[in-house]
Amino acid sequence: MKVSVFGLGYVGAVTAACMTRAGHEVVGVDVQPAKLQALQQGRSPIVEPGLDALLAQAHQQGRLQATDDAAAALAHSEACIICVGTPSLASGGLNLDFVRKVCTQIAEVLSATGKSQILVLRSTMLPGSTRSLAAECFASLQQRGQVELLFAPEFLREGSAVADFEQPSLAAMGTADGTAPRNSAVLALFGGQPSLLTWEGAELLKYACNSWHAMKVAFANEVGRLGKHLQLDSRKVMEVLCQDSRLNISSHYLRPGAPFGGSCLPKDLSALIAMGRREGLALPLLEATTQSNQAHAQTLLRLVLRSGCRRVGILGLSFKAGTDDLRGSPMVELAEQLLAAGHELRIHDPQLHLAQLHGANAAEMQRRLPRLAGLLCSNAQQVLDHSELLVISQRCVEYAQLQTWAQPQHHVLDVMGWSQLQELNCHQEGICW
Ligand SMILES: NC(=O)c1ccc[n+]([C@@H]2O[C@H](COP(=O)([O-])OP(=O)(O)OC[C@H]3O[C@@H](n4cnc5c(N)ncnc54)[C@H](O)[C@@H]3O)[C@@H](O)[C@H]2O)c1
Repeated sequence: MKVSVFGLGYVGAVTAACMTRAGHEVVGVDVQPAKLQALQQGRSPIVEPGLDALLAQAHQQGRLQATDDAAAALAHSEACIICVGTPSLASGGLNLDFVRKVCTQIAEVLSATGKSQILVLRSTMLPGSTRSLAAECFASLQQRGQVELLFAPEFLREGSAVADFEQPSLAAMGTADGTAPRNSAVLALFGGQPSLLTWEGAELLKYACNSWHAMKVAFANEVGRLGKHLQLDSRKVMEVLCQDSRLNISSHYLRPGAPFGGSCLPKDLSALIAMGRREGLALPLLEATTQSNQAHAQTLLRLVLRSGCRRVGILGLSFKAGTDDLRGSPMVELAEQLLAAGHELRIHDPQLHLAQLHGANAAEMQRRLPRLAGLLCSNAQQVLDHSELLVISQRCVEYAQLQTWAQPQHHVLDVMGWSQLQELNCHQEGICW
């Protein structure tokens, strides 16, 4: 394809160079003369392994031009990739001035020339930015079908940017409605088969990735501080932690849904935090993890209260599916709070047989939900018949049955991420979606 790249910094220079290697013809646009001169001479404007060689080759083959003239670049290109900076404002917020300026400039050129263009925003921008730029700059061009606007987050890392561009760890493409772009040729520019999201979804994905990476570093460093304090080699501890690719380094525990609970995570986290406090160690991430979980449990309660329904059913009471362990269960906490607020409850959990509860599990049930025996139903239909609102934390009923029983006046609150529930013919809502 014929491609223009606006902004020739770390992202733009690598993008331009790698696209020439893939056989595309590229024009780079920047406002800094030194960067333009470097590219015109086949040199890299930044220090990045492998980039000099790629740019020299592109220069030799005549595949890469560089200019400060936006109109000339657009005259040459079918797809335009925007990689200008989005720095922080003094307030900590995001400065979209460079992106807005480039978008305005591009819109003016395309309006004047009538040329069509696929526009791909790659600068990191907060959810909602692409949609507001679309309205601000490209509304009439989009209506005329002259512009297709996409948001494709960039995941390269400086220092291995060329390798990361060629073999991205993740590829995602945001479109206005989350469906495939009209012109599928553009997908090939970014390595073939990116996951499709809406503009906002793709924007959030980039921030979710970076926050996740930052949290991993902070977490490893908190374990590190603890280790050093205990005269342990935390590098070795974390190395062994990383050997577990089933639970630790995996997609486990990364799905939005219920607050965490059970007899281990809350207890062990609070023991570690207590030890940190006793020893004078700052462990703010671990402390915040507990606070975040409490905030999530509060959100769950608020969603139930906001529904205005007084008769509530709970499907799944134990702390997770496949066990009768009630200790630390977020659903037990919800039940306690709803009973205290005067709601009428019915509960179904196929794993739960009160006569078979023993020890700490039975004691916790007695302490927190002494009336549980009178609330338990032996099947889900009894719960549905009684309830205006059904809170589903486990799949303890077949979808087909739920479909038959659910009436339009029912409210369903999905806490587990059961996507089929969205098709039920009643009011339904998810805890995080
Ligand atoms: N650097 C990274 O590792 C990385 C990785 C992924 C995503 N990102 C995101 O990509 C975007 C770009 O990052 P970067 O590190 O390449 O930024 P950068 O500051 O290195 O480069 C931005 C370039 O845009 C140019 N520019 C500014 N206004 C322009 C205009 N009107 N017309 C043409 N060019 C203009 C600047 O002169 C500069 O060369 C940011 O949103 C960043 O958050 C960066």
